[in-house]
Amino acid sequence: MATKLYVYTGTGNSLWIARQLALELKDATVGFIPNLSGDLKVEADRVGIIFPVHIWGLPSRVIQFINHLQVKPETYFFALAVNAGQPAATLLQLKKLMLTRGHSLAAGYSIVLPSNYTPWGGPGPVETQERLFREAQEKVKAIAETILRQERKKVDRGPLWQNILFSWIYKMSFRSVRKMDKKFWVDDKCNRCGICSKACPACNIEMINEKPSWLRRCEQCFACLQWCPQEAIQYGEKTVKYPRYHHPEVTLKDILDQAKANKE
Ligand SMILES: Cc1cc2nc3c(=O)[nH]c(=O)nc-3n(C[C@H](O)[C@H](O)[C@H](O)COP(=O)(O)O)c2cc1C
Ligand code: SF4
Ligand code: SF4
Repeated sequence: MATKLYVYTGTGNSLWIARQLALELKDATVGFIPNLSGDLKVEADRVGIIFPVHIWGLPSRVIQFINHLQVKPETYFFALAVNAGQPAATLLQLKKLMLTRGHSLAAGYSIVLPSNYTPWGGPGPVETQERLFREAQEKVKAIAETILRQERKKVDRGPLWQNILFSWIYKMSFRSVRKMDKKFWVDDKCNRCGICSKACPACNIEMINEKPSWLRRCEQCFACLQWCPQEAIQYGEKTVKYPRYHHPEVTLKDILDQAKANKE
């Protein structure tokens, strides 16, 4: 059996989870979720998508991917929604979206890892981060077993009040996500290296007069802010005082590879 894992990531949490899962499944290959404009045919027997929860719902790239994906009718489809403790109704949203495209989501799991949404504070103390990594690893092992047995089950979800309230906020904000990059700015530490521009999976940063400029097609993955080696990128006023984060086992090269894969 062949399993194909598709991943989208800003700070490596989802990529790390995909790699952990691939180790458990043994037959799996990991690729990045491309920025699709045309259909993509996938022949694998099992297909998994692994992505971060953004504003209590699916990132636009995941929606686009599902809209263009073609799989065999018997494909076993599963998803892992990586989040900071509030997946809300993201996996229900995915299940419904897939149904509209004629696919069936067999299982959907929430995985909690450190937060990369810096405006709401940093990723938490190192001990808490390490605990989350350990717990996630255990959960991935259990998930791998259910995948190998091709079990069908209810998708993970948050409490009802969060699913209702936060799904509404998601819907209200979804259209403005592209323009949320207007809150990014660069402080004096910027040495004009251009890494932010190369790391952006949405090609949303152009170096103009040797300074990064955001182009209003942002996906809010936060890769630019988190991977800037000088920590020179800020978002609004609060990020100045918070530490940066990326998964310790994921490198800048991984993130540049994701961005490159989108340009191919
Ligand atoms: C714009 C944005 C919105 C986010 N919204 C949520 C959210 O609604 N619920 C949640 O639990 N985590 C949220 N997060 C946190 C990420 O889902 C979490 O840190 C995830 O592990 C990041 O994965 P990645 O490193 O693969 O990008 C958000 C992060 C960003 C950047
Ligand atoms: S990665 Fe940071 S230092 Fe390099 S150009 Fe971008 S903002 Fe400036
Ligand atoms: S501009 Fe920054 S936050 Fe927006 S998609 Fe690019 S890397 Fe992600």
